[in-house]
Amino acid sequence: MYRRVRFNMPDSDIHAAAHCERVLLYALILGADIFGADGDVLDILVHASIFHDTRRQDEYLDTGHGARAAVYYEQFCQDNNDIEFHPESVFLMRYHDLDDAMGKEAIQKYFGTETDRVLNLYAIFKNGVETDRNLRVLETENIGQIDICGLAGDVCVADTIRDGIALKLPQKINVLMDYTSSIDGGKTLNSIISKNKLSCIR
Ligand SMILES: [Fe+2]
Repeated sequence: MYRRVRFNMPDSDIHAAAHCERVLLYALILGADIFGADGDVLDILVHASIFHDTRRQDEYLDTGHGARAAVYYEQFCQDNNDIEFHPESVFLMRYHDLDDAMGKEAIQKYFGTETDRVLNLYAIFKNGVETDRNLRVLETENIGQIDICGLAGDVCVADTIRDGIALKLPQKINVLMDYTSSIDGGKTLNSIISKNKLSCIR
């Protein structure tokens, strides 16, 4: 990436190579978790992560930079025949700056029986991008505590906590047990809290 891929805004603190590197890491963690060691899947995520913000012209609202990145990626693959071209990567980056519904509709139209697989990849990739943004907010705003509560303690709340632990944030997590209901009566949450020594309020 550093040797061959060119960024429109290489000096950007927010969206240049370091951001793409982190998105790459998060997307691979999520991809390997969901698909296992599927080389093709991981390659698709690698390409989308590396190229998705290469054609930004503006640090903030820059709708269309995903489409420009997709054009650059296609051209890059034509010019470098040692890089395998993945149409899935095109859709992931093309729609990463647009509404999910637009991305999903386009994927459904193009991929036929492969639709579910590509929709999963699209969700993983967008999560990778958002994870990096959220982590940057925690860092730049100097946020020391994340209070977590919700309606399904043993499902989405537990998954959110697991994500936080995977991102090495357990010291920031504070579980609001009084504001969280669980189908299993709190068994899953209590086990995660004690196993990871998380802060919680009951
Ligand atoms: Fe982007």
